[in-house]
Amino acid sequence: MAKIIGGITTSHVPAIGRAIAKGLQQDPYWKPFFDGFLPIHRWLKEARPDVVVLLYNDHGLNFFLDKMPTFSVGAASEYRNADEGWGIPTVPPFKGDPALSWQLIESLVGEEFDLTTCQEMKVDHAFTLPMALLWPDQNWPVRVIPVCINTVQDPLPSARRCWKLGEAIGRAVAQWSTDDRVLILGTGGLSHQLDGERAGFINKEFDLRFMDSMVSDPQWATQFTTRELVELAGTQGVELLMWLSTRAALGDKAVALHRNYHIPISNTASGLMLLEPVA
Ligand code: DHB
Ligand code: FE
Repeated sequence: MAKIIGGITTSHVPAIGRAIAKGLQQDPYWKPFFDGFLPIHRWLKEARPDVVVLLYNDHGLNFFLDKMPTFSVGAASEYRNADEGWGIPTVPPFKGDPALSWQLIESLVGEEFDLTTCQEMKVDHAFTLPMALLWPDQNWPVRVIPVCINTVQDPLPSARRCWKLGEAIGRAVAQWSTDDRVLILGTGGLSHQLDGERAGFINKEFDLRFMDSMVSDPQWATQFTTRELVELAGTQGVELLMWLSTRAALGDKAVALHRNYHIPISNTASGLMLLEPVA
């Protein structure tokens, strides 16, 4: 049976792609951010995941505002990146696993999640840059299953619903008929707002409380409505929903092996956590 070996949650910001392209990992602006991934590299060498279930939000590359599924799952044999207009290089294609994707889809639909299934799917910076942070040589040693949660166009799924999605993903993986070692990777947040009167908004106190809650009280953020989350974390900070689903997939108890928090990366308070489930 397949096994979830850990969860990693991280911010995703297009500027990271530019920093990678220019080799700025040691630059004083970037070093505190990139250094946060060194313990993750060491952990990945030991943990050797076979498959990554990658929870993220598409920002207009695969889905545009005319068609916006609440939850969608990739079922392709390969996923490609494309130019989003940020001026950053695209990354090599990712290998999918359609058989596992369909097992996940069947479980989730069986648990009454109404999904959009994507046999073709382009993956944007929220997918590619966290992968490049985990595996800087971009020679991806894993198969991937993309899971998209709409955090772009109102109405968004509630925090409670995203928690339940994560729980269902955890149950689905436990039933997979393979021996795969599965990493859940959730990308987005933490607090940031790119537009409107509050552009540049950051809430460090909330972010740190939220990161603490991932271990001590993991359903803490499910008390908030979408509007409250936007007030607390910013219009794009609501991407933290991906962290909640990731955490839920790990089960009742989890330990944090590593965390990093650094302000700012571009307009974003960047957060990083490495979590392991406790049986
Ligand atoms: C930024 C952050 C994001 O999450 C994103 O998707 C795009 C841009 C930023 O801080 O610049
Ligand atoms: Fe984003």
